[in-house]
Amino acid sequence: MKKSTDEVKQMFLSFFQEKKHKVLPGSSLIPTNDASLLFTNSGMNQFKNILLKENKEFKYTRVVTVQNCLRTGGKHNDFNNVGYTSKHHTFFKMLGNFSFGDYFKTEAIMYAWEFLTSKKWLHLPKEKLWITVYKDDTKSYDIWKNIINVKEERIIKIGDKKNQKYTSDNFWQMGNTGPCGPSTEIFYDQGHHLPGKPPGNNTDTGTRFIEIWNIVFMQFNKINNENITKLFRSSVDTGMGLERIASIMQNVTSNYEIDLFQPLTNLIVKMSNTQNFNYKHIYVIADHIRASAFIISENVIPSNEKHGYVLRRIIRRAIRHGHRIGIKKIFLHKLIPTLINSIGQDSHILQKKQDQIENILKLEESKFVETLDRGLILLQSKIQKLKSKTISGQLIFELYDTFGLPMDLTIDICRKKNITVNFEEIKTIMKHQQKKAKNNTFHRKVNINDDIVTNNDISSNFIGYNVIEVQSCITSIVCNNTYCTAIKENELGILILERTPFYAELGGQIGDSGIIKNIHGKFIVYDTQKYKNAIGHIGKLISGTLKVNDVVNAKIDNNKRSLIQANHSATHLLYSSLRTILGNHIFQKGSYITDQFLRFDFSHYSSINLTDIHKIETMVNTKINHNILIKTNIMTLEAAKEKNITSLFHNKYHDTVRVLSINDFSIELCGGTHANRTGDIGLFKIISEKGISSGVRRIEAITGKIALSNIHTKEKELEDIAIMLKTHNKNITRHIQVLLLNNRKLEKKISKINEQEICNIVNKLSKKFICIKDVKTIIHTFKNENSKKLKTIIDKLKNKLQSCIIILINISDNAAIIIIGITSDISQKITANKLLNTLLKNLDGKGGGKPSLAEGRIKNLIFLKKELINIKNWIKSNL
Ligand code: ALA
Repeated sequence: MKKSTDEVKQMFLSFFQEKKHKVLPGSSLIPTNDASLLFTNSGMNQFKNILLKENKEFKYTRVVTVQNCLRTGGKHNDFNNVGYTSKHHTFFKMLGNFSFGDYFKTEAIMYAWEFLTSKKWLHLPKEKLWITVYKDDTKSYDIWKNIINVKEERIIKIGDKKNQKYTSDNFWQMGNTGPCGPSTEIFYDQGHHLPGKPPGNNTDTGTRFIEIWNIVFMQFNKINNENITKLFRSSVDTGMGLERIASIMQNVTSNYEIDLFQPLTNLIVKMSNTQNFNYKHIYVIADHIRASAFIISENVIPSNEKHGYVLRRIIRRAIRHGHRIGIKKIFLHKLIPTLINSIGQDSHILQKKQDQIENILKLEESKFVETLDRGLILLQSKIQKLKSKTISGQLIFELYDTFGLPMDLTIDICRKKNITVNFEEIKTIMKHQQKKAKNNTFHRKVNINDDIVTNNDISSNFIGYNVIEVQSCITSIVCNNTYCTAIKENELGILILERTPFYAELGGQIGDSGIIKNIHGKFIVYDTQKYKNAIGHIGKLISGTLKVNDVVNAKIDNNKRSLIQANHSATHLLYSSLRTILGNHIFQKGSYITDQFLRFDFSHYSSINLTDIHKIETMVNTKINHNILIKTNIMTLEAAKEKNITSLFHNKYHDTVRVLSINDFSIELCGGTHANRTGDIGLFKIISEKGISSGVRRIEAITGKIALSNIHTKEKELEDIAIMLKTHNKNITRHIQVLLLNNRKLEKKISKINEQEICNIVNKLSKKFICIKDVKTIIHTFKNENSKKLKTIIDKLKNKLQSCIIILINISDNAAIIIIGITSDISQKITANKLLNTLLKNLDGKGGGKPSLAEGRIKNLIFLKKELINIKNWIKSNL
């Protein structure tokens, strides 16, 4: 019997609940504490630590989840499969049951078989199921053969590829490192009418045999390619693609035909503008719009790095496939309502963020279309100029770097035109670019080779949350890019102390400055930076000598620190105020906190008007007035997550985190240093608000004395204006309004006078023509007029005289402009540009124009008079 996708999902959860599994929610699409992964790629990601760590306490040993996964990079990358098969997705839902040191192979296999084949559950025909096992896993083989009674010819052993250990399709690994183990997979035979061979080593299973369930026996931890260690306990991790099993339950051969996708694919077909398309384009768009919507719902916005870059690639690929099926207008955002209505139980997740998703898609698509239009025209012209049928990597890179044309698109186009692409060169250029980017960040930090510090295993203790001065010991000194035992007077270098009150730049907060000294030497710290686990004090020894193992007094510049802290706490208040006033779609995208100002970047798609800016300032200043105690709590990351305290900047946190709270108004994970009470901030003033990339705005603000001094400067400016206007501050606006009004009246008056003046000149000149072979010709010289006025005079004279040649000269500051107008009947014989060129030839001038009007400029005025006489003869002989 047909089952909807939601029904299949529910049945899976109920089945394992009956088998005493705890139903847990899937984790976020962005892993919260795993720097090895950009996006969640499997149900087991959230349980990685439980699988790996011996002492990891966990409430449950049997768990079942439905996990949103994204496979667009790393070990599991289906980005390029989407569209080419009807079974792959970038974003999909994985059904998974887990045993953490509880049941193992026998139960795991028996549960899977029961769920798939028993009448009560999916009731799939047993003879349609095929099994693969890892070639050395005799235990699993025996279970399938002797307990489940699958016929031997339908149990296939899969070995390692090229005899390299652990490279088999039946040895599953989360990533290049981490938990791994042998697996057994269940395939479904969709019928002999479809192409494909039974699963085996390197066989093409086509559309006939589809892998539906992967049961992994987690027994190892991969440290690197050479080292795999055994886990202290064996666990089970399984994964079944919901869309695939739903396609079987709905008796369709493509995942994109299931209930979840049908309304969406129908709409895309309707939007398309060609009769003759490949379904691949529809699949790509349907998959990518769903992936994009879910990624954006995690508050990611398109950018050129990390999560944002993955999102940008997905959106751009969807757009390009849209163009291939003739969709001309911006379309992605129009798919969102249908997507939301058709994705079943998850719709509320997207519904909450619908505006955000649609706005970001709209913005990204319009920007990309502009880039494409420009880039493609350019590529076309470059291709035409190619001397051979090969395109250089440099050119492909330039088109990307300067004009934003995606490299894969350029490569695609070139391939279609049979132009060979120099991939090696692209690789070399990209490597070079990466190195350059790395060096740039480092140079911004300090003019010292920081690898020297980073590459050594030194660490220091930061004790400066509440302490500003401490006695400590110098553990290392780096001068001239090498470790040394001492630093001498006037030398620049990095000092590393055993413990230090100096905060190293992190999380947007700049590093501390201060002094490190003892009776032998004094070192001024200009900046403090983190080098892996070491805190480097960067500066100059201004007197004496300091040596490794010296005991020193390390004291930060507390004045500067207090200003930084005020700005840091103000940033937290600003963030919460923005979310309260503008909405919960606002997320931090970056920050920079110094002693002089604070900068805060956040997701929002339009500029913020002055009324809202004032509301935000008022809210922050009210919190400052309340003088709230700023509290810090250290807790486990899990406890923080339970309290819903998270941050978009995942990955950077350890197992324990610092939670900073300003009442309930602002609760955030933060490792920076802060004011004691909000009152310490004094005053908060926004000084600028602008967009910095699509969907990201930036606010800059100042606090305390600096904010007050900024207000004073503004006040002084107003006073100066009032003095100029000879009025009081309060009356400035009214005075300026009156001034503007008077100005407008005067402009109108002047324009009337000008018109009258032009009429008078035209009347006078129209009577002053000479006739050259019956053609009325006017030659007249003005002083200090503007060209626009002379052209109006020419137009009016042409109208009045009907058939004429007019040469007007305007002399100003030792240069002259010549403007020539000729009516169309005469320009058959003499054109204005030809006449102008003849005049300019002997006058060292430049200019050009049309047959009816030409304009030129000359510097040599000496022969002007003579040339104006000669030109009459020239006209005569050419008429
Ligand atoms: N973790 C396994 C997979 O993703 C089940 O296929």
